[in-house]
Amino acid sequence: MNDKKPRRILSGVQPSGKLHLGNYFGAIRQHIALQDEGDCFYFIADYHALTTLRDAAEREAEEAKRNGRAARSVADFLRENVWDVAIDYLALGLDPAKAAFFRQSDVPEVTELAWILSTVTGLGLLERAHSYKDKTARGIQASVGLLTYPVLMAADILIYRSNLVPVGKDQVQHLEMTRDMAGYFNTAFGKEIFPPPMERLDNVPVVPGTDGQKMSKSYGNTIEIFAEGKALKKAVMGVVTDSAPMEAPKNPDTCNVFNLFKLFATEQEQAALAERYRAGGMGYGEAKTQLLNQIDAYFGPFREKRKQLAADPAGVEAVLQAGAAKARAEAQKTMELVRKATGLRK
Ligand code: ADP
Ligand code: TRP
Repeated sequence: MNDKKPRRILSGVQPSGKLHLGNYFGAIRQHIALQDEGDCFYFIADYHALTTLRDAAEREAEEAKRNGRAARSVADFLRENVWDVAIDYLALGLDPAKAAFFRQSDVPEVTELAWILSTVTGLGLLERAHSYKDKTARGIQASVGLLTYPVLMAADILIYRSNLVPVGKDQVQHLEMTRDMAGYFNTAFGKEIFPPPMERLDNVPVVPGTDGQKMSKSYGNTIEIFAEGKALKKAVMGVVTDSAPMEAPKNPDTCNVFNLFKLFATEQEQAALAERYRAGGMGYGEAKTQLLNQIDAYFGPFREKRKQLAADPAGVEAVLQAGAAKARAEAQKTMELVRKATGLRK
């Protein structure tokens, strides 16, 4: 039989700071491309952000203090980060006519499902999570919420009975855990309520940061998607290179500037710049200027759209509310089935 039902595609993004090129090429770009391929639900994971919020806000406050600026309160930090993610996604092409776009906390039913899933999930599964181990190793306090983060993520995915979850590589273990939890629930209550969701990875390698490590907010090595003018120039000029003199032939393949350039440039542009590296006589400053021009050309049009959105908070809020209404109706349908299957309701 030909199954005409659209595939349910879902993903979430944490509002934990300004979005950067790693987020764009690793996650956002595929979220937007998939809008035409199924029934999409995308949300801003504000409940998840609470697990590391105070730590992140504190780091920001310390930096503000060092630079003589006033610090934001923790609540302002979260509210403003949610807002930034909302307008970033809409500016980058998320189309609310195609995808439901909403705040996680506007569908509080996910916390109910997370509770129910937590009762069929062994502690050992959570203790093995890489992301929990990484975060506690970085000094983030091990709250119960940090440990049960993957249970809430499983609830996010399962409450919409999602089939496909576009994420970055670092989230694959969370998807494996989600499939485990779906299986535990279905077995425990003898009903196939949750289909097993599959991850979808983009074919982009890890985007390097300005220091050559993985680009990440926590390493302070990002180039922000919506940086422009002086701030963008400063970030690009700060990309670390070796100290080969201008005349020396250079290796493009081991150069951070070239690896970032490749994300934007056509094959011909890449070949031309690689040739200049190998020939010698070109300084890294010139390669950085070419990278800067590529970034400007790529994100320039999105910046205009973002400014319009920023001037219309009520319009943006209306988009999020409409997305939440659609998502919540789906979540409530699933919870009816879950409550019946568990015996919480007749
Ligand atoms: P950060 O490391 O800055 O905190 P997140 O963990 O919030 O970023 O990542 C959000 C999404 O962006 C994830 O799907 C992740 O895989 C992707 N992502 C983040 N950094 C990179 C990178 N440097 N290269 C590729 N994808 C990335
Ligand atoms: N854990 C994801 C991240 O850090 C964000 C997230 C929360 C998510 N819930 C989700 C992603 C559900 C996909 C599906 O990037």
